[in-house]
Amino acid sequence: ASPPPAHVAITAARLIAPEQGKVIEHPLVLVDGDRIREVRSGGDVPDGYEKIDLGAATLLPGLIDCHVHLGGDPTLSSGNYYEDVLKRSVIDDAVTAHVFARRTLEAGFTTVRNLGSGAYLDVALRNAIDAGRIPGPRILAATLPLGATGGHADDTTGFSPYIQFHGATGVADGVEAVRRQVREDVKRGADVIKFMASAGVLSAEESVGAPQYSQAEMDAIVDESHRWGRKVAAHAHGAEAIKMAIKAGVDSVEHSSLIDDEGLKLARQHGTWLVFDVYNDDYILSEYARLGYPATMVEKEKKVGRLQRESFRRAVQAGEKLAFGTDAGVYPHGWNGKQFAKMVEWGMTPMQAIQAATTNAAELLGRADRIGAVKPGYYADLVAVSGDPLADVATLERVGFVMKGGAVVRNEVAPKP
Ligand code: ARG
Repeated sequence: ASPPPAHVAITAARLIAPEQGKVIEHPLVLVDGDRIREVRSGGDVPDGYEKIDLGAATLLPGLIDCHVHLGGDPTLSSGNYYEDVLKRSVIDDAVTAHVFARRTLEAGFTTVRNLGSGAYLDVALRNAIDAGRIPGPRILAATLPLGATGGHADDTTGFSPYIQFHGATGVADGVEAVRRQVREDVKRGADVIKFMASAGVLSAEESVGAPQYSQAEMDAIVDESHRWGRKVAAHAHGAEAIKMAIKAGVDSVEHSSLIDDEGLKLARQHGTWLVFDVYNDDYILSEYARLGYPATMVEKEKKVGRLQRESFRRAVQAGEKLAFGTDAGVYPHGWNGKQFAKMVEWGMTPMQAIQAATTNAAELLGRADRIGAVKPGYYADLVAVSGDPLADVATLERVGFVMKGGAVVRNEVAPKP
């Protein structure tokens, strides 16, 4: 990205303002440095402003994905799962993570929450991006996800006990140990804490949804994280684990696949955000056998994928607080926008899907005062698409203009001067 010129005026056919749930015709957005100065409908470009005319395009706030893993990507797969486990290290992941960060940004996602990577690579990536050394989205890093021995975060489950794996992990058991691991993550730079409340698809344990922490452990993780001013995201597929996590006071439940009516009610009572990665199922079922993943994992996906989408539809109908999160890294980074069409297919209006990835996501991240809307004082994080995403939300899969903090990242929308 080029260094931001001090004063830029952006015009387009329309601006989607998710915080008002409406559209502003013929917007004129004035950007000073990395911030938005003013938003008007129509009017002339003031003196001293460099003009970017996006013509017939639609402007929106920069998109936010609340659930990614920038350390991994299926394009890194050798086609043999176990070979990758044995031959790849977290340093391999770290070397390529910047490529995926750039793809994410170029796809219009100007902020992401990285819900877990090995060896604090997400902290290093966030810091390099913030320092302007490499392009990428704003990152909230979760560092090492906490999980029980043998559970979804315990990557060595199922291996021979004679194989010794080395390196930092977030595996922690018992109230004292989970408190210590939260402190360790915070010490190493975590912006948010992630823990595995239930089993999962892409791990060895067979249940997919069984709780993997006790209520006391979940309570302790949330209490300790909040004491340090960190929000908590809980991975949970099963109905029971989801309810335990909500009762513990987590800020968001991730996946939320098998949430029941009681869980939906509890989430409303507690104000808990629900994040449903509803595109993932298509990719896993079509590609993971070819990528050499164990058949047991693909079988587990078949147990949750469709039900998760049905749960999502019930959550939309119940008026739950829903934020956009994809689990990109399970599918290729840069494809984050493919989830919008799924969310509309399963019950949201295009405006609701856009709100999930802007205003709602910003609120979940605790950043609603600076991202998620095009408003004075907010970061100049903007995207544009040709066409109208309120008519066809899939246009968000082809973002042609991206500005992050006042710097143009890409522009295939504006006619060349
Ligand atoms: N990381 C998640 C897990 O392993 C992926 C779940 C994907 N499946 C889905 N239907 N969303 O559990």
